[in-house]
Amino acid sequence: MQKLHPNFTRLLELLADGEYHDGTSLGAQLGITRAAVWKFIQKLMQYGIEVDSIKGKGYRLATPFSLLDAKKITQNLTHPRQVQVAVFEKLDSTNRYLRDLGDIVCPQACVAETMLAGRGRLGRHWVAPFGQNLYFSYAFPFQKDISELAGLSLIAGLATVAALKQCMPDIPFALKWPNDVLVGGSKLVGILVEVQAESNGACTAIIGIGVNVNMSMQTPASAEISQAWASLFSVSGQSTDRNLLAALLLDQLNVSLDRFVETGFSDFVAEWECADCLLGQEITVKNHDKQWQGQVLGVNTLGQLRLLTENGEEKTISAGDTTILKKNSEKPL
Ligand code: BTN
Repeated sequence: MQKLHPNFTRLLELLADGEYHDGTSLGAQLGITRAAVWKFIQKLMQYGIEVDSIKGKGYRLATPFSLLDAKKITQNLTHPRQVQVAVFEKLDSTNRYLRDLGDIVCPQACVAETMLAGRGRLGRHWVAPFGQNLYFSYAFPFQKDISELAGLSLIAGLATVAALKQCMPDIPFALKWPNDVLVGGSKLVGILVEVQAESNGACTAIIGIGVNVNMSMQTPASAEISQAWASLFSVSGQSTDRNLLAALLLDQLNVSLDRFVETGFSDFVAEWECADCLLGQEITVKNHDKQWQGQVLGVNTLGQLRLLTENGEEKTISAGDTTILKKNSEKPL
């Protein structure tokens, strides 16, 4: 676990203008030696951030970017709930960090610039290059039993789409059950919700959201990603302020969680169907060694997938990975 060093943050602020800065003047502004500046520059390069350097002129970021900042995130929050936001340079996993805190009494969020062991659904790894994307987790305590949280992971998907639409209203974000956010069929967001029971009959949900934000198709990390992916940058050509996006995400989660506490998932079914890219499609669903095939009829009030199987029966599925078999433009009756 490593917090961002204030001098590292300040150095990046100085380099954010995209201009060359020499080591001596950077050091003077930070109150550190040229050698210490060089160490931070080396750290950036080790994280895969491209730094141009010219003798006599100094260093500049090939693509300027700004670091995550807890103050900037909290300043942009509008929901009245008080949430502590922790920012890290690196963690093994933001979900794991919150889980390891133990009993969560107040809602708590964290973000990291990179994760060394990012967790994906069904035991997969989430690729997390430094400084480019959002790796966000939110621990939310419920005064409910685990059995009452059906549909929660779909709520996280809906809240994410709402936040993304605030940033980019013209992009057609779609949801793929249970909670992937896609653009043009490629994965933009992955969500992992982990729920832990507390001793008093209550429980805490850790909602982990990975959004591909400013990652470009040329990023070396691309080689590690085994499925078609998109980023906000690849679909819009614009870079997005990750601190603002984190705040929008947290606000939307708070709004949706308030509604969910009141009504459960039933209140969200219609909203889900508006963004659902599987509705009416012929798909397969895989969950470990089980597999089903059929046409998607939608989701039920528990957030389970409704599948019309080949023998004409309706099957409801609680967990799994979905793949579209063939595109069907007609919606089911
Ligand atoms: C998926 O497999 O699609 C889910 C990916 C979830 C990734 C996010 S990034 C923030 C949070 N921390 C983790 O370790 N994983 C989730």
